[in-house]
Amino acid sequence: MQSDVAYVNVALGMAELATIGTKADAAPASWWRDAVVYQVYVRSFADGNGDGIGDLAGVRSRLPYLSDLGVDALWFNPWYPSPLADNGYDVADYRSIDPAFGTLEEAEELIAVARDLGIRTIVDVVPNHVSNEHPWFRDALAAGPNSPERSRFWFRRGGDDNGTPPNGWQSIFGGSAWTQVGDGDWYLHLFAPQQPDLNWMHPDVWAEHEEVLRFWFDRGVAGVRIDSAALLVKDPGLGAEPTSWAPGEHPYMDRDQLHDIYRSWRMVADGYPEPRVLIGELWLPEPERLIRYLRTDELHTAFNFDYLSCPWEPARMRTCIDAALDAHAPVDAPTTWVISNHDVTRPVTRYGRDDTSFSFEAKRAGTPTDLGRGTRRARAAALLSMALPGSMYVYQGEELGLPEVEDIPDDRRRDPMWLRSGGRDPGRDGCRVPIPWTGARPPFGFSPNGDARPWLDQPDDWAALTVEAESGDPSSMLTLYRTGLRLRRTAPWGDAASIAWLESPEETFTFARGERFVCLVNFGPDPVPLPRGAEVLIASGELEGGAVPRDTTVWLLQNGKPEDVQGKERR
Ligand code: NOJ
Ligand code: CA
Repeated sequence: MQSDVAYVNVALGMAELATIGTKADAAPASWWRDAVVYQVYVRSFADGNGDGIGDLAGVRSRLPYLSDLGVDALWFNPWYPSPLADNGYDVADYRSIDPAFGTLEEAEELIAVARDLGIRTIVDVVPNHVSNEHPWFRDALAAGPNSPERSRFWFRRGGDDNGTPPNGWQSIFGGSAWTQVGDGDWYLHLFAPQQPDLNWMHPDVWAEHEEVLRFWFDRGVAGVRIDSAALLVKDPGLGAEPTSWAPGEHPYMDRDQLHDIYRSWRMVADGYPEPRVLIGELWLPEPERLIRYLRTDELHTAFNFDYLSCPWEPARMRTCIDAALDAHAPVDAPTTWVISNHDVTRPVTRYGRDDTSFSFEAKRAGTPTDLGRGTRRARAAALLSMALPGSMYVYQGEELGLPEVEDIPDDRRRDPMWLRSGGRDPGRDGCRVPIPWTGARPPFGFSPNGDARPWLDQPDDWAALTVEAESGDPSSMLTLYRTGLRLRRTAPWGDAASIAWLESPEETFTFARGERFVCLVNFGPDPVPLPRGAEVLIASGELEGGAVPRDTTVWLLQNGKPEDVQGKERR
């Protein structure tokens, strides 16, 4: 018989689980070190006013859901006024709220109400570029070539008598990274043409961003997620993009001067009684380069994209975990564990494919997937992430096991990655589909009156994936997340911040954390027996007669001291 909390050992005592206080209040100075941060993509979370677009009123109405889920903080994707060339990452005004989402006053209230529930707020800042409708860029266009207004951006004359772009840099969204304006100047945009890059050698750019940080920190925001954090600084010579380069010598990626910017931001963040937290979005291949941003006077944490991109294979996952823990140890920064966000393929779809890794370059529409297998693995990956030391990110809908929506009609797609690749890249709309809350058919309670068409359509067959349906289902993804996160708060590993690998059967891995806690993941096709004398705390799938089936993670309490465990390799 199943308990009402799937696969959890009721012997642990639900009363014990229910009495856990808010960690936020217990350790204010370092709450972020092991926080669970929930990513809110506002446009798709919940619609409060019935226009089919998610908004702050919708988020506010769903705070009880988030509190019940057991998250420590909300990270909001950009909520600022934006012409939406890149769904909000083209910011026209960094100090207000997009009218489609609500008002600044509503944001302030939301920050305060959430905080009363023990949930902190993190906002997204976008320092690499602004919208082409930002006043600075409008002024720059109006002021003409060689004007001081243009020096806040990268305006240049082109080659071949100004007929070709100043250099061959390519936009991350495809095509040239340069666009020519009417008077002949070209400007740089590493993303869409509507996202002109700022010139971080200009003092206005520094000053403005520090003021924007203070603006939000003064409103009670606990931290910022820094968009495209490795791209801000450019080689002023605008040298050609090399095929290989020495560390720090790429013309627009991971350049040394970035560290000066973040040191200065850290001073701003540290100026608050509860220091604000700086979280970097840094897609850097080498962990050694990444952790340079996490030195004690720079950023606090960074997303672990290596883990997010890692294929579902025991050796690769173990290497990835080790690499992250090893790299972070010397800088005393916590690792983060991330399996999804608003830019990447939903985990249940990705893990159901033959190639379970993620890369932007390899994304192609129509790649077959087995959602049953993918869901099993996503459950196992979630429970693994919850057991690892550090903080964890959950992207809205991940906790419902939503799949990537891959059949969005072309005329509904928005993502510049899809548009600018001519459809070769399926883009990111498929992981941004509105959340299904209740009911049997779209829009699944996304809007209050139930009949507004959401900005992206939900599939008709999501009735079993609604919050309502999953709440009552002991075997649902939502029950797993709720139960796993609640158990995580009890810290069955005590205060142990490191893990020790144990001997483990083929195609599995097992680690201990603390005195008695053990986590075992079976990646292989065959069930593996539970270690002798182990008490099961929770499993991501139903155990088969005391054995752990394929693609399943299980948390155990060992009856015995760690020395009793054979083959332990302390880390
Ligand atoms: C990273 C963001 O996560 C992504 O959504 C956006 O398109 C780019 N940065 C550009 O701002
Ligand atoms: Ca709305």
